[in-house]
Amino acid sequence: MDDRPDTRPEIEPYHWNPDGIWEDLPVMKSKDKPDLIICDPPYFDKKADEYAKESISGLSRQTYLKFLENFFIFLKKISKKNTRLAFINSDWRDFQHCPADKEEPGQGILVVDYYDIFKKTGWALTHVIQAPLSSERFNAGVVSAMQKKKILGVVSRYVMILR
Ligand SMILES: C[S@@+](CC[C@H](N)C(=O)[O-])C[C@H]1O[C@@H](n2cnc3c(N)ncnc32)[C@H](O)[C@@H]1O
Repeated sequence: MDDRPDTRPEIEPYHWNPDGIWEDLPVMKSKDKPDLIICDPPYFDKKADEYAKESISGLSRQTYLKFLENFFIFLKKISKKNTRLAFINSDWRDFQHCPADKEEPGQGILVVDYYDIFKKTGWALTHVIQAPLSSERFNAGVVSAMQKKKILGVVSRYVMILR
């Protein structure tokens, strides 16, 4: 989202407004349809403090999932039959505070929850590619804190490929 018009003019920062009218965007009228869409949204509220105030990571769980549902419907509208969507995400759990045996169903957001939304919005899954988080992310201090609180960490992201 960093604006770098001098060095990367092809990257145009744009904030998707959850309440916005996307039907009026120029991309809707374009004759060219994308071959590939890469969607790497915030993993719910993870890093919410680091993203802009317009970030969807500030939304409630329900509004965040509803935003994605509307966004996937929008992506269908701007796609052609063979457009591929690469969706990057991971299970979201309160991995800093919630011990594994206190985890309740429906509390986190798991990749299968995203899959449910894809099925509902007409996207069909062809691949799930595992993309492990780096060991820098899981340094000794973080792992030790999780061990003390008996927290089961999330160690991988996934790239879902859909058509
Ligand atoms: C997991 S990061 C993806 C980072 C990206 N793949 C990269 O390499 O820079 C999620 C990104 O989504 C952006 N984001 C959050 N809400 C957004 C919104 N409403 N519209 C556009 N981007 C948003 C955040 O600013 C953040 O850069």
